[in-house]
Amino acid sequence: MENNQRLVVEGGYPLLGTTRVSGAKNAALPILAACILTTGDFRIANIPPLMDIKVMIKMLNALGVRAEYLANDQVVIRNNRKIRHIAPYELVTAMRASFFVAGPILARTGFAKVPLPGGCAIGIRPLDIHINGFKAMGVDINIEHGFVQMTAKSLRGARIYLDFPSVGATENIMMAATLADGTTIIENAAQEPEIDDLANFLIQAGACIEGAGSSTITIQGVSRLVGRDYAVIPDRVEVGTLMIAAAVTRGDVCIKGAVPDHIEPIIRKLKDAGVGVDVTPTDIRVVGSDTITSVDIETMPFPGFPTDMQAQFMALLSIARGIGIVTERIFENRFMHVSELMRLGADIRVDQRQAIVKGVPQLWGAEVKITDLRAGAALIIAGLVANGQTRIYGLDHLRRGYYELPQKLERLGARIHLI
Ligand code: EPZ
Repeated sequence: MENNQRLVVEGGYPLLGTTRVSGAKNAALPILAACILTTGDFRIANIPPLMDIKVMIKMLNALGVRAEYLANDQVVIRNNRKIRHIAPYELVTAMRASFFVAGPILARTGFAKVPLPGGCAIGIRPLDIHINGFKAMGVDINIEHGFVQMTAKSLRGARIYLDFPSVGATENIMMAATLADGTTIIENAAQEPEIDDLANFLIQAGACIEGAGSSTITIQGVSRLVGRDYAVIPDRVEVGTLMIAAAVTRGDVCIKGAVPDHIEPIIRKLKDAGVGVDVTPTDIRVVGSDTITSVDIETMPFPGFPTDMQAQFMALLSIARGIGIVTERIFENRFMHVSELMRLGADIRVDQRQAIVKGVPQLWGAEVKITDLRAGAALIIAGLVANGQTRIYGLDHLRRGYYELPQKLERLGARIHLI
């Protein structure tokens, strides 16, 4: 999509029917990085063809791992060559998650030179928790000229306490620990389902990992890992986004291939708001009601309410009955969608980490701009229910994290198209 392209949404049409969730971007990215740790030829399935995924595939090829994207959401990995230890600048700055390659490169080669990824719209995104973890494992770290240079004559297991249960730091340290000498214990680890998925991929390749998905993960280093075919978990954020879109349009949508346990906080909060939600082990059905009542949400590390669903839920609160308080505890600057929602007529006041959302009877179509990935989803949701036409710019953000979201919504009855 070129930059001047925009989405045009006609509000007022209920979403009806069945859709299927794609693979999880935030599980696929660390699992692709983990391919650096393994040797052999294998395939990873259920990987959506997103821009971020394509950056990570370029990264793998630049490091010596042959990775090729096939049409049917599969990536073929052939990893039998020497691993290079310098991650290209233009790829790391294109996508922050590229820093996930630091741990694997270090574990394979004893040396890694990775550009500092820099911040993004939602925050400065420091790396201190990653770096402190590597230091505890005996890595010499030197940060200069915008690069993180890491040297480890021998990577050794260590007991590491994370100051914050950082998802990326947990993944980076866990990956490095799989080939370290001895045992690593990560305490106060992140518990997101994507961590568990990464651990399952590594265990299948021969890693000794216990406790992934809990706050304490124990990794016993092994000498080598051999990759095996694997399929990535479904994208819980896409599921939550589709659920909220169905709720606000008073629709009736069944989402196939979802894992309800991964999205429990959204199910609970939507039910508290008066939305009908029925689940089976693999599907979630959402039936929107005439009145949605306001609830409060506070983003927390898993199993709390996910920060990646904050913007989308705020769009729902904009047209709920009452006042809902949104507290963002994870990122310091994740309210940029507020000003865009206000252009659509939302009544929101921000005070530091809190946004007070006073529900209005009606939103009105307008021109709006996407500032970050999940804010884009929030604006589409608001456009689906706004009176009239909403034109949404800045679509590259959307393309980073949602595979064909507009198309999925259109197939469910939304009046949404690209111009
Ligand atoms: C992952 O980012 C996700 N990205 C994010 O999704 C998600 O919002 C985030 O986890 C929280 O769930 C991927 O998985 C690719 P963190 P990550 O390290 O790992 C601070 C999306 O929309 N922190 O858990 O970068 C950090 O500043 C994206 O798909 C440190 O202070 O998140 C933040 O305030 C957006 N020092 C908090 O921790 C560190 O060394 C949570 O960050 C690392 C993090």
